[in-house]
Amino acid sequence: MIICKSQKEMTKIREACQIVARLLKELRPLVRPGVTTKELDRFAEDFIQRAGARPAFKGYRGYPATLCTSVNEAVVHGIPNDYKLREGDIVGVDAGAIVDSYYGDAAVTFPVGTIVPEVERLLQVTRESLELGIQQVRVGNRVSDIGHRIQKYVQSFGYSVVRDFVGHGIGQALHEDPQVPNFGEPGRGPRLREGMVLAIEPMVNMKGPEVRILSDRWTAVTADGSYSAHFEHTVACTSNGPEVLTRLDHGA
Ligand code: MF3
Ligand code: CO
Repeated sequence: MIICKSQKEMTKIREACQIVARLLKELRPLVRPGVTTKELDRFAEDFIQRAGARPAFKGYRGYPATLCTSVNEAVVHGIPNDYKLREGDIVGVDAGAIVDSYYGDAAVTFPVGTIVPEVERLLQVTRESLELGIQQVRVGNRVSDIGHRIQKYVQSFGYSVVRDFVGHGIGQALHEDPQVPNFGEPGRGPRLREGMVLAIEPMVNMKGPEVRILSDRWTAVTADGSYSAHFEHTVACTSNGPEVLTRLDHGA
């Protein structure tokens, strides 16, 4: 069942989303050679708490941290640890916050120092695929129009989209209906309606789409060891088109 949100609920979700947006902005300059992913996690937990919110991932199905930090061939759900980031790495940073029981969720893949142009392009294409997916969030479109657009764009560069993880509805739970795959035929699945809120999160591998899970039972890595990027926004479907709730609101 897909829950459409009232204006009042939307205000809470927007608040949670803006905390995540501000957090990711503050993390960006901290992502540099020598910093550990655990240090980033520590900063994130403090930041969310100081903002009067709660981390959304910590404790979710036993997940142990505030952030997911997924380095290089890690796709998603990397657990922050003592690994020191190195020049040329990329790190996917995924963050969620809860305000008065409403959730916000977003992710960015950051370069660490200077990265090679091939990987730079992977980040750019993944970011652009998210923007194209977001543009499909209009009343009357169907859920699969989002993933179709993302997949078509990503594959035109010879990259692949991950199938084993998908985006999701979000509201008073981190994961609500509907599932939002980053692939598929257009014109399938539920129709988009005013008040729906979706977390759209393309995961793009440089080579094949297959992933495997490490023995920590969380970290998903590419099966072929190729680099992977992940960007995510929480997006509301409004009568005026998509509202990207995790886009930093400079007026606020
Ligand atoms: N953005 C991811 C998701 O929506 C992050 C979840 S991490 C978890 O699934 F630990 F909470 F599972
Ligand atoms: Co998500």
